[in-house]
Amino acid sequence: MGLNISLGIFINHDILWIYDKHILDFIMSKKIFITTPIYYVNAKPHIGHAYTTVVCDVYARFCRMMGYDVKFSTGTDEHGKKIEHSATKLNQNPEEFVNNISQLFKDLLPILNISNDDFIRTTEERHIKTVHHFWNKLQDNGYIYLGEYKGWYDIRNEAYFEENELIDGKSPLGGEVTYMVEPCYFFKLSAFEDKLLKFYEENPDFIFPISRRNEIISFIKQGLQDLSISRSTFSWGIPVPNDPKHVVYVWLDALTNYLTVNGYPENENQNNDEYWQNTLHFVGKEIVRFHALYWPAFLMAVGIKPPKQIVSHGWWLSEGEKMSKSLGNVQDPAKYCKLFGSDALRYYLLRELPFGADGNFSLNNFINRYNSVLANSYGNLCNRVISFISKYCNNTINKPLVETGDDINFIEQVKACINESFDNIRSYAFHKYLEKLENAVTLSNQYLDNQKPWLLRNSDIKRMEDVLYITLAQIYNITRALYPVIPISAKKVCNSIGMDCNVNSELPNTVTVRTPEVLFPRLDTNDISKFDVYASN
Ligand code: MSP
Repeated sequence: MGLNISLGIFINHDILWIYDKHILDFIMSKKIFITTPIYYVNAKPHIGHAYTTVVCDVYARFCRMMGYDVKFSTGTDEHGKKIEHSATKLNQNPEEFVNNISQLFKDLLPILNISNDDFIRTTEERHIKTVHHFWNKLQDNGYIYLGEYKGWYDIRNEAYFEENELIDGKSPLGGEVTYMVEPCYFFKLSAFEDKLLKFYEENPDFIFPISRRNEIISFIKQGLQDLSISRSTFSWGIPVPNDPKHVVYVWLDALTNYLTVNGYPENENQNNDEYWQNTLHFVGKEIVRFHALYWPAFLMAVGIKPPKQIVSHGWWLSEGEKMSKSLGNVQDPAKYCKLFGSDALRYYLLRELPFGADGNFSLNNFINRYNSVLANSYGNLCNRVISFISKYCNNTINKPLVETGDDINFIEQVKACINESFDNIRSYAFHKYLEKLENAVTLSNQYLDNQKPWLLRNSDIKRMEDVLYITLAQIYNITRALYPVIPISAKKVCNSIGMDCNVNSELPNTVTVRTPEVLFPRLDTNDISKFDVYASN
């Protein structure tokens, strides 16, 4: 397949699959492992949780579209004092409590149209086995010792802090702290200072974005303390092998989920596993330290290579404020999907927030983007072209034999937009990826407005058909490029022109269409308070 404009009379309409840059060139093989963090089950899922999951899903679908064999996992993090606490408050036993909330996270996946291959719960037998095996390895390799911990414990974030790390009497993560003394097992984190720094130097892409990498490096340069990795003041956790008075520190337990999903310990030689070699952990900015520092140190201690990259994103505020039950501003992703469709929510999540930065989730803004981009621009383009073909070309249209300079210009410009759009995937700039595709849609609408097929109908039927075919071919290209973000609508468009979004093929010489249903019905903006998007407590 190639682009041939040398004679100026024939142009290849299929541009998506001739994209020849190595967008994902840092992935060394055709296998890739994509993970979301596993979610704490102390509260119901909200828009912030949906964000991490949707970002991973879009990336996973994009990679699959580019021919990668993707393993994509998500799940729930169910142990720890915080969860025991939340269960007690509701007079429930922890098992019952975690079963209920974990199910809510699981139920949300089909609602958001997530294509995960696995859903892991840290209370599952397979995971407990992994954690035990991993612990024993750390111990056999001499990285665990019994000691006593004194320090400030942040229950909400399940982490200890030194006195000098506290900010205004709270943990640096913002949680309330209590002074605690307990016997516990330690991991010799201090032995990994140099190894970690060397590893970051040799793998400059390991932490994304670079600003987070710098933060981690300066944190390590201040000196690493050994890390307490067991607790004995509560029991809701995985018992420490051979010392069941202790439970395994929830972050050691949680991080190990990634190995469980990848078949450890049966599949013990992770260094030879192609998925493991190409593992991308997507995480929010507040948990970078756990993934980019503790996790590689734990892995190095058992002889497993760290993952490929820790990709961190920013935080959503809700209507300008931190989401909180007490403010009543927790937005419910399931309600958005029910009211506007999962594609619309997915689109907004990726388009609105520059990846890595913080942003504001506002219903008003959501509706504006929905109406202007999805309904008026893209939806309308697809609908008007396909309906027109259906109505005035008897559902069938043929590839032009000759193209004009305007046509070639238009096709080239759309091609440039899609190429530029894809260039942003490597740096996770999903908002720019979509912005460029929006430009391609605008170009298509302009081309139609200039060519005026509705007038050509009375003067030059052949030219009218050529214009429609050329536009349709670009709709198909744009739609496939949009597929990872709006899979349901993209499939509808592809189906209505008898194509498959995921198949490497050009539009055939003759295309038969079916009028599609309206993709994104316009929303009435008179009184948006009628849209109930807030979580009930
Ligand atoms: N259980 C740990 C992760 C363990 S992974 C081995 C955890 N869970 S969490 O439920 O608190 O957060 C999970 C993810 O949701 C994080 O990536 C976090 O950044 C994301 N979000 C939670 N609230 C968020 C926003 N308001 N905005 C964007 N994402 C946020 O941490």
